[in-house]
Order: sequence, then structure tokens, then C-alpha cells
Amino acid sequence: MAPRKPKVVVTRKLPDAVETRMRELFDTELNLDDTPMNVETLVAALSRADVLASTITDRLDAALIARAGDQLKLIANFGVGIDHIDVAAAHARGILVTNTPGVLTEDTADLTMGLILAAARRLVEGANILQAGEFHGWTPTWMLGRRLWGKRLGIVGMGRIGQALAKRARAFGLSIHYHNRKPVNARVAEELEATYWESLDQMLARTDVVSVNCPHTPATYHLLSARRLKLMRPHAILVNTARGEIIDEAALAGMLQRGELAGAGLDVYEHEPAVNPKLLKLPNVVLLPHMSSATIEGRIDMGEKVIINIRTWMDGHRPPDRIIPSML
Ligand code: DGY
Repeated sequence: MAPRKPKVVVTRKLPDAVETRMRELFDTELNLDDTPMNVETLVAALSRADVLASTITDRLDAALIARAGDQLKLIANFGVGIDHIDVAAAHARGILVTNTPGVLTEDTADLTMGLILAAARRLVEGANILQAGEFHGWTPTWMLGRRLWGKRLGIVGMGRIGQALAKRARAFGLSIHYHNRKPVNARVAEELEATYWESLDQMLARTDVVSVNCPHTPATYHLLSARRLKLMRPHAILVNTARGEIIDEAALAGMLQRGELAGAGLDVYEHEPAVNPKLLKLPNVVLLPHMSSATIEGRIDMGEKVIINIRTWMDGHRPPDRIIPSML
């Protein structure tokens, strides 16, 4: 008799190719109409699934994990960020957690570079003016932005995405500065000609563009606090494609409104999907709807990673992208 296939509950609509493959391999329950799960539907899913294929929109906190059935053995997250999952609580109940690192690095770095360009050169503002029929001809002093070539980029978090951004930024003439828990290895630092700043405060005060690329953990919550944001230079630009909670969004909005910071490019928000209403009214910000990993190829690759993690677990091996609490 063939072994029983694990029951996999997928919480959101995934790319068709991924869903088809999951149906072939597992006893898969899809969410074809893509309705986000609320607490009750999540608890019900946790009580019937062997594997939950979750996304960032599922808040799997300790209280919820405590209500999971004993059959739940794996949370295979579709996404690299796992700040919506209480990994320690899952671990304590013997539930493995996996994510999808590596496959969205280049797409996220592309979009981060795009936000830097858009914020520095006022791309969205210019496009909006044109589409509103308000372009009345070239003038020497209109729509002036900031030159990137020759400026300093400060990267907060020099992991995969930070390094991929650094490679792109160097082609735009930016010199690379970074703050990280520890310096990157010497070969990478040399290749990127990157300067390590142990003090985030000092780096913020000496760079022209700052990009947030670290994970959101209890240690990075409001890492860019009101006090630290004030250290940035008034002509500087702040970009965030990591997690909104890393920046004190209200403090940032206030500074941008008062002209204490030149501009910002944001793809993520502290209270997502809500966006601070002040930000929505500002001309000097570029706001995107959490889309930095949103490419067709990236989302299929993420799905394939989810499948590999589930299959490896099913075969009795350690899934390649297992997260353990000590890694956080
Ligand atoms: C990620 O993979 O973390 C993206 O932000 C979507 O969750």
C-alpha cells in the first residue's frame, strides 16, 4: 500500500504551476479564491494540516501555535521573512519551520535599486505631472533631483540582498558602506570595496542614501528610531524593502513632511497594509505595495523551494531551509 500523502494546507493562492505540482505530490488543499485566513480559519487549518504552507499574511503567533493539532509537523513558509511566525513556540511543540531564501535576492535588489533611483531622481513625481497634463516644457531649474554618482550608500544589513544591492549600486557610482552584526568576509568586502561601520549612528550621519536590508527581529524593531533618523543628513534618502517595523514610520513621516530628510522609497510599512496617512500626501516619497519579490520567475522559484522543503521532510530528512530559533 502506498504511504499516505501528507495533508498540506496552502493559505493563499500560489502560481498555477506550483499548485499543480503540489497537488501531484501531496494531499493538497488550495485557497483558490485567495481569501486571507483569519484567526478562526487559521486555527481550523492548523488542526487538520500535517503541513501548513503559509505566507506573510498569516500571523502565526504563540497563542495560535498553541491551538495547532498534534498532527501539524511543518510550517513551510512561502517567503524569506519569518517575523510573522513565532519560531520558538513552533520549535517547542516540535513543529519545523522553513522559508525560501536565495531565490528572491536578485529581484529584491533590483527593486531596491529602482526605489533609490526613483526617490533620488523624482521619477514618480515627474511621471504623475506628465500624466496629469502639467508638463509645459523644459526649464533649467524644474524637477531637479539628486545625483547618485559619487555618493555614499549605507546598507543596513549586508546579507544576500544587501550584497546584491551593493553590486548594482557600484555600477551607479555609489561607494558602499554597511552596518551589520559582523563584517562580511574579506573577499566579499574587497570585491565590493565596502566599508564596515560598527556604529550604525556614525554610518547614518555620513551617508547620502540609506537602504534597509536586514530581517525584522526583536533586535531590529525600530532600529531606525526617531533619534537615529535625526542623525541622517537632510539631503539623504532612505529606502526600505525589508520590513516596515524596522523604521519608526511616524517619525519618518514627520521628518519628510518638515523637509528634514530629502526623500524616501518604501515598499514595506509598519502596520501593513495600512500606510501612515502623512506619507500618502507627500511628494518626496515613492511608495510601493510590498512588491519587491513580485516577479513571475521569483514566485515560481519560491513555490519550488516550499515543495523541496516539504518533500525532504516527507522523506524523513532535514529540510534544507529549516529555521531554528538560535538563527534569529
Ligand atoms: C518575503 O519573502 O519575506 C517577502 O517580503 C514576502 O513575504
